[in-house]
Amino acid sequence: MVRNRRRWMPIVLLAAGSLALAGCGGGNKNSNPASGGSTQVEVFSWWTGGGEAKGLEAMVADFKAKHPTIAFQNAAVAGGSGTNAKAVLASRLQAQQPPDSFQGHAGAELLDYIKAGQLETLDSFYDQNQLRSVFPQQLVDQITFEGHVYSVPVNIHRSNVLWYSPKVLTEAGISAPPGSIAEFIADLQQVKQKTKKIPLSLGAQWTADHLWESVMLADLGPDGWNALWKSGADWSGANVTKALQDYAEILKYTNAEAASTDWQLAAKDVVDGKAAFNIMGDWAAGYFKELGKAPDTDYKWAASPGTDGVYMWLSDSFTLPKGAKHRDAAVEWLKECASKQGQDLFNPQKGSIPARKDADTSLYKDYLAWALQQWQADKLAGSFWHGVTANNQWHTDIDTAVGLFLRSKDVGKFQSALVSAAQNDAQ
Ligand code: GAL
Repeated sequence: MVRNRRRWMPIVLLAAGSLALAGCGGGNKNSNPASGGSTQVEVFSWWTGGGEAKGLEAMVADFKAKHPTIAFQNAAVAGGSGTNAKAVLASRLQAQQPPDSFQGHAGAELLDYIKAGQLETLDSFYDQNQLRSVFPQQLVDQITFEGHVYSVPVNIHRSNVLWYSPKVLTEAGISAPPGSIAEFIADLQQVKQKTKKIPLSLGAQWTADHLWESVMLADLGPDGWNALWKSGADWSGANVTKALQDYAEILKYTNAEAASTDWQLAAKDVVDGKAAFNIMGDWAAGYFKELGKAPDTDYKWAASPGTDGVYMWLSDSFTLPKGAKHRDAAVEWLKECASKQGQDLFNPQKGSIPARKDADTSLYKDYLAWALQQWQADKLAGSFWHGVTANNQWHTDIDTAVGLFLRSKDVGKFQSALVSAAQNDAQ
């Protein structure tokens, strides 16, 4: 893959230092495959559900084949986008009982752990395993702080995807997916009038946060969106008001948000022909594959309305926490995550494209072939909900504002809450 033409817009957070600096500050004493005698490794993620667990299993199977003497302990905590897992992780880190490796998003989310002194640097790990050049430099910048690199990215996910049911669209008399927010609203109305199907399926509250970032991106554009996450940014402008009004309008066409319904069930409504549209990250592609659903027949996809040409990205990465009990085995796990083989086993199942530049592109079909193409051509915007642009506190404050808005539908109060959150939490 050629990625050197990338324009990375959201790099506001991590100080990209000299990557030539090696071996400072953390020290990886042992990257020997003998794994220093560790007989187990505990890996923490939130990949338990449809599509997600399968991807992890594929990589774990490869790890086990290479390390038959290391017992793999899967410490995954259920809940899409880590809603439960992050709380469990925070208390374990607080109690200095870290797992041997945990999932963390590249960008601001990772920076929280780094600043709290919870992670070892991986400088010598990167050098010893010749990883400096296998990931796009701009992605490495998002996992680098003050010249030290802190995690191993396994993938690139896309947040702004519109999944739709061609059958329901035909039934509603819609011939092409909406290209703008105005068209989207008109289509939602048409589905409501002409069919008995759900116009836009939604699940737990976090899926409403997820929807919000796509609507904001459409109305602000990538430059406007990325600018919001810089210190001192103005959230009180008319462009934000317009986006929140559009968001309020779009929400009128969703099924009642149900805390017990995670993203899988909301996405499944589309492939089961019960809903016309769902806006969800491309982990949905992994789930649809697992369900045995056929692309083009059971579902189609497009950039979420008004965001064509922009890749709202996020990246899952794995870390080496300070105080990991089975540190040597954790280093072996990180090698698996970093490897071409591991990434090419994981990503086609997970519904993501590889973080590595040298992956075997022939393995990425249907939606993923499209994603690889878009990744090369699109402008980039960082996902807020999935850890790129906002630290954990800001993330929580916006989530609280979204939760209140879902009940009140008061755009003015919502915007004020967003302004305050930016003032209080901007990094
Ligand atoms: C994201 C994560 C993805 C996927 C998704 C849904 O935050 O990066 O890998 O797991 O949540 O759970």
